[in-house]
Amino acid sequence: MKTVIVTGGCGFIGSHFVRRLIRRTFFRVVNLDKLTYAGDLFRLGDVTEGERYRMVKGDIADRDLVREVFEEEWPWGVVNFAAESHVDRSILDPLPFLHSNILGVQNLLEAARRHLVRRFIQISTDEVYGDADGKGAFDEGCSLNPSSPYAATKAAADLLSKAYSRTYGVPVLIVRSTNNYGPYQFPEKFIPLLIGNALRKEELPIYGDGAQRRDWLYVEDNAEAILRVMETGQAGSTYNVGTGEERSNLEVVHTICRLLAEETGEDLEALLRRIRFVADRPGHDRRYFLVTEKIAKEVGWTPSVSFELGLQRTVRWYVNNKSWTESILSGEYRDYYTAVYVKEWATKGSR
Ligand code: NAD
Ligand code: TYD
Repeated sequence: MKTVIVTGGCGFIGSHFVRRLIRRTFFRVVNLDKLTYAGDLFRLGDVTEGERYRMVKGDIADRDLVREVFEEEWPWGVVNFAAESHVDRSILDPLPFLHSNILGVQNLLEAARRHLVRRFIQISTDEVYGDADGKGAFDEGCSLNPSSPYAATKAAADLLSKAYSRTYGVPVLIVRSTNNYGPYQFPEKFIPLLIGNALRKEELPIYGDGAQRRDWLYVEDNAEAILRVMETGQAGSTYNVGTGEERSNLEVVHTICRLLAEETGEDLEALLRRIRFVADRPGHDRRYFLVTEKIAKEVGWTPSVSFELGLQRTVRWYVNNKSWTESILSGEYRDYYTAVYVKEWATKGSR
């Protein structure tokens, strides 16, 4: 049985991908996850340890541990989701981002080189291209121009991956997707934050003027795109993944309020009155937008879930799983929330 090491499989996108690998393929999955604040075993509560699935708690930046796991498993492939993933946290403290998103990736690439893996999928992001405002759409050949510390570390990881591909022949494939949303997303991100706050009758914070635009991709569509790239993509290639539709943040919050009103019976006007314009994120990119023809042509992937349907499913999931969100709104999350929204970008712990 071929083994795939999936890192960060207890995170939002990684957990959807692990479940898909177990259900739709014959691969054995080894999930290497540090279980940071963003990792949660509960996301894979329905996947049991056994012949097809092994969970290893550990840091991809821990060289000895990574070597040990590769020595035990001799994997056919690696899919690297493990990362510090939130732009706002990277503004408050970039260092953990360098640790996981750069050093961690180098460790994995080195282990992949030594163990002759057949596929190394680096999960990247549209944010490596930088702000698309006034620039049309970015294709895979565009230069990298990251704005946030998060995006800078992801760009560094892409460059390292390309270097390992060219210099050592590691069969690297890079997948750059737009913003994901769906069940089990950590509530610091825009869509689950708005839904959670609305359900608790708290304010709905909109950075700046709310006219920033994003292309929202349903997480299951992204998991399928990554699986197809792993199975049929060209080694050495980069693939953009997105829906080709963009929405402003204000459109998103209005749609969420409408869907919540339909789902819970709450008054729509009362929900809309909770929208608050708050201090903008420093360095905030106005727009991300990708050309996605390559993945459609070479891999045969196109999205299948519309924004309306995906958001309806997501809103319903958060309404029915309030206890999950409540369980992770720990003291640490409250400190983070205070730093961004109450102190308006003040460093955590200081005034
Ligand atoms: P997430 O924050 O929900 O999950 C990250 C997971 O990685 C967690 O389980 C965490 O415990 C684990 N992890 C972090 N550092 C680690 C380390 N050093 N060693 C081992 N495990 C570690 O992230 P996500 O939203 O699921 O994103 C997954 C990947 O997709 C990331 O690489 C991110 O950059 C990329 N991405 C995300 C989005 C998005 O909209 N969420 C869009 C494009 C790309
Ligand atoms: P986010 O989910 O953090 O993703 P990214 O920054 O990677 O695109 O944010 C999505 C958009 O929503 C982005 O333009 C920032 C904005 N935003 C708010 O307006 N308010 C918020 O409280 C958050 C978390 C994000």
